[in-house]
Amino acid sequence: MENNIKIGVIIGSIREGRFGDKPGRWILGEAKKIAGVEAELIDLKEIKLPTYATGGYPSAVQDGNYGNDKLNAFAKSIGSADAFIIVSPEYNHGYSSALKDALDSIYKEWNNKPVAFIGYGSVGGGRAIEQLREVAVELQMAPIRNAVHLPSDVYMAVMKETAPADPELFKPVAEKATGMLTQLLWWAKALKAVR
Ligand SMILES: Cc1cc2nc3c(=O)[nH]c(=O)nc-3n(C[C@H](O)[C@H](O)[C@H](O)COP(=O)(O)O)c2cc1C
Repeated sequence: MENNIKIGVIIGSIREGRFGDKPGRWILGEAKKIAGVEAELIDLKEIKLPTYATGGYPSAVQDGNYGNDKLNAFAKSIGSADAFIIVSPEYNHGYSSALKDALDSIYKEWNNKPVAFIGYGSVGGGRAIEQLREVAVELQMAPIRNAVHLPSDVYMAVMKETAPADPELFKPVAEKATGMLTQLLWWAKALKAVR
């Protein structure tokens, strides 16, 4: 529906045996429970974007044609969303190369949209998420403050599951998730109105 807010949940890990699809599917389910929200999974492992290597500047592309069918389809899906939740792993204190490729490969479709983060790892993915916030600003996005940093006991319990994991296991961060979704929606509605 026209007035619905569309949230894209981006799973940033494409690794064999990854953890990221479990919190990704959980937050997708939480977002879908909200009236007036449409949530879509954007799984970089399934999409298999090429490594960013196209000529020219993505920021110069105005018509959604990035010169490659896969990228164009990705741009269309990002362009149709009003807000994003990036579910990020932390590798060597940074985020994944898959996320960097996805973020760098297109431009306009990210602009003027809010983004929230879910992280996990020894410090709840905090270092990767801080880096993502800096990159998001350069993409003219609005990274929001509220985030979900999974504590290690939740990580360990969820890791034993196959996706989708039992949503009850995320209960310790349920309040954080509600706060994050509330704030994300506030920004999504505000920026959608101005866009
Ligand atoms: C290459 C690599 C580097 C890692 N570096 C970190 C790190 O810097 N900080 C951290 O908290 N966890 C680190 N870890 C552990 C990850 O947090 C953990 O493996 C997590 O499950 C990775 O996300 P994924 O399974 O969704 O890919 C690292 C894991 C790998 C494979």
